[in-house]
Amino acid sequence: MRIYVPLDSAARALGADQVAEAIAAEAASRGVAAEIIRNGSRGMVWLEPLVEVETPEGRMGFGPLLPSEAAQVFDRGGPKALGPVEALPWMARQTRLTFARCGITDPLSLADYEAHGGLAGLRRALGMSGETIVDEVKTSGLRGRGGAGFPTGIKWDTVRLAKADRKYIICNADEGDSGTFADRMIMEGDPFTLIEGMVIAGLATGATRGYIYSRSEYPQANAIMRRAIAAAQKAGILGPRVLGTGPAFDMELRIGAGAYVCGEETSLLNSLEGKRGVVRAKPPLPALEGFMGKPTVVNNVLSLATVPVIFEKGAQFYADFGLGRSKGTMPIQIAGNVRRGGLFETAFGMELGTLVNDIAGGTASGRPVKAVQVGGPLGAYLAPAKFDTPFGYEEFDRKEALIGHAGIVVFDDTTDMLGMARFAMEFCAVESCGKCTPCRIGAVRGVETIDRIARGDAAAIPLLTDLCETMKDGSLCALGGFTPFPVMSALKQFPEDFVPAAREAAE
Ligand code: NAI
Ligand code: SF4
Repeated sequence: MRIYVPLDSAARALGADQVAEAIAAEAASRGVAAEIIRNGSRGMVWLEPLVEVETPEGRMGFGPLLPSEAAQVFDRGGPKALGPVEALPWMARQTRLTFARCGITDPLSLADYEAHGGLAGLRRALGMSGETIVDEVKTSGLRGRGGAGFPTGIKWDTVRLAKADRKYIICNADEGDSGTFADRMIMEGDPFTLIEGMVIAGLATGATRGYIYSRSEYPQANAIMRRAIAAAQKAGILGPRVLGTGPAFDMELRIGAGAYVCGEETSLLNSLEGKRGVVRAKPPLPALEGFMGKPTVVNNVLSLATVPVIFEKGAQFYADFGLGRSKGTMPIQIAGNVRRGGLFETAFGMELGTLVNDIAGGTASGRPVKAVQVGGPLGAYLAPAKFDTPFGYEEFDRKEALIGHAGIVVFDDTTDMLGMARFAMEFCAVESCGKCTPCRIGAVRGVETIDRIARGDAAAIPLLTDLCETMKDGSLCALGGFTPFPVMSALKQFPEDFVPAAREAAE
């Protein structure tokens, strides 16, 4: 009997380890030979710990399971029995390409990985030239999943064409956006797909060494990634000749100390070189002068982890999903005040309101949604009036918003948007690297200005607008440059949260 119990951090935080122990004890007491496999999460966090039993009719789910309920798994029924996992609406409505294996395979079994399509993309890429690999990525339409949406193929081509004795592939796994967890889930649930994607990036560009820059806050992901890299080295996927026939490519994991700004690529590079995590001016682009001054691909976990499926199934297959210039699928992370939170991968184009009201089931509090913040702490707030916006880079841009790393955080009508705007400025003040004035000084003044508004000083409102314009236009990187998004979107869409204080003071 094969039983799957997730080892994902979210599932473990909800008691998955205790559930695994209870299942082992129940199997022993019944004299049942049970193989317990610790898999990644399916992304249905509200059902975690979600235990699955393999049956001829498919995998049957039980969740959220308490250790005291382990007997239901063996009785094949009970209040926590969910039926076939693939048939649950959350699963059935997804298009899982990047996350195709996550929650299905044993994350550290290469045999399982290969049995589910793993390494097929790399084997295909090994027969292609760097130029044709890059062309395939261009055709797929893949864009940087870290947030900026820059075409991955063009970035790779810049590195490929650069002349240098050494080139690097760096995976940005410093997932710092509030409400995002897709990078962590991939590293915990399907680490080989990230390794495979990085090796293909190496083949494309001529880079021979890779680094995954992860965060100290992700101990579980880091432990699994380390073991996966060691397994890939042992199997010859990494090493002096990739899979015995290719050029050299090897990699290692590096852990940052938890500064948000180290998710910005140039400050990440400084940190990786052992320097303070301060942003570098661009140009030069990292693609030309990156790690140790050499041409470097810096891609997010999701961008690299999506590459294997593109090569396995073909660029056109991938490009046929999506909307406009947003091709393929996006692993969307839904969090905050929602009934159902978790990871939902779908083709670009689904309306924001469908994701919030239908997929996530509205608020957990049962109150009306007031706003959702998309794209992390630097993302704009969107009121329900904008819920008809399709999920896509340009579509959000047109609404003065961004999809970023595709985190959606939902707030109900009790939320004070002035308080949220203040939080954005405070976050920027705390996390600023200090290199440029609009961010270093502006964010501190921003907190003070919002406090003046809260105290009833209406004259501070145009001052806040001016300050946001200055930060947007004058900041060196996205931290200072994008903080105005949450602030201004809150001010524009919810003026009543900013004005009553002023009225009160005037009386
Ligand atoms: P950017 O627009 O400056 O650059 C995007 C990428 O394209 C960079 O890697 C850049 O080096 C590369 N690039 C630009 N022109 C190129 C060319 N001609 N050839 C080759 N490469 C080229 O954006 P940036 O500052 O890197 O990222 C900002 C985004 O980061 C925001 O949209 C925000 O959503 C996101 N973000 C994500 C976080 C996360 O946790 N994933 C945290 C904070 C921000
Ligand atoms: Fe540093 Fe902020 Fe300037 Fe970015 S915007 S370079 S984080 S001071």
